[in-house]
Amino acid sequence: MTQRLAVLISGSGSNLQAIIDAMAAGRLAAQIGVVVSNRREAFGLVRAARAGIPRLYFPYKPYKDAGRPREQYDADLAEQVAACAPDLVVLAGWMHVLSPAFLDRFPGRVLNLHPALPGQFAGTHAIQRAYEAFQQGEIDQTGAMVHWVVPEVDAGPVLASVQVPIYPGDSLEELEARMHAAEHRLLIEAIEAALG
Ligand code: GRF
Repeated sequence: MTQRLAVLISGSGSNLQAIIDAMAAGRLAAQIGVVVSNRREAFGLVRAARAGIPRLYFPYKPYKDAGRPREQYDADLAEQVAACAPDLVVLAGWMHVLSPAFLDRFPGRVLNLHPALPGQFAGTHAIQRAYEAFQQGEIDQTGAMVHWVVPEVDAGPVLASVQVPIYPGDSLEELEARMHAAEHRLLIEAIEAALG
C-alpha cells in the first residue's frame, strides 16, 4: 500500500516541489495526504494546489492573540495532520518549533530538513551564518541534514546528511542555490530511507 506523507511548510516550498516531482517521476513510492502551512502567503500552498494535493492554512496567530498556549496550537495542528493518517510527517521549511503536544502524536515519524551539518548552525538563517563563518575562516564547507525531530531544535538523530562546498568567490545567493539543489536530492533520499 502506498505510504502517505504529510508535508509542513512555511515558505517557497521548493523542497515540497522536489517531493512532488519525485513522486510524479516514479522515483518515490509515496503520496502526499496533506500540505499544511502556517503562513498564508507560502508559495508552497500554490505548488500543492497545482499538484491537486489537499492543503491547509493553519496559523498560530489566532492562538497567540487569544492568549492560548503554543501547546494547544500544536495539539490542534496534530489533530489536523492526523486526519490523513500519515506514515511520515516531513517538515520542509516549517518555521515553528513543535512541542511534544504535536510530536507525541507521531512518535518516531517526524522528519526535518535543516540547511546545516549535524551540530552546526541550529535555528534560523543557517545558510547565511555558514557563509559568514566561511568568510571568517571558521569553516571550509557546510551542508544539509535530515533528522528525526525531538523537542530540542534541529538536534534529533540524523537520518541523512550531505556536505556542500563553499568557494572563495561565492556570493550568498550562489551558496544558497547550491544548498537548495543539494537539499532537494537529500530530502528524497531521506524519505525513501525513512519509508524503508
Ligand atoms: C530550506 O533551506 C530548509 O532546509 C529550511 O528552509 C528552507 C525551505 O525552503 N528549513 P523551501 O520552502 O522548501 O523552498
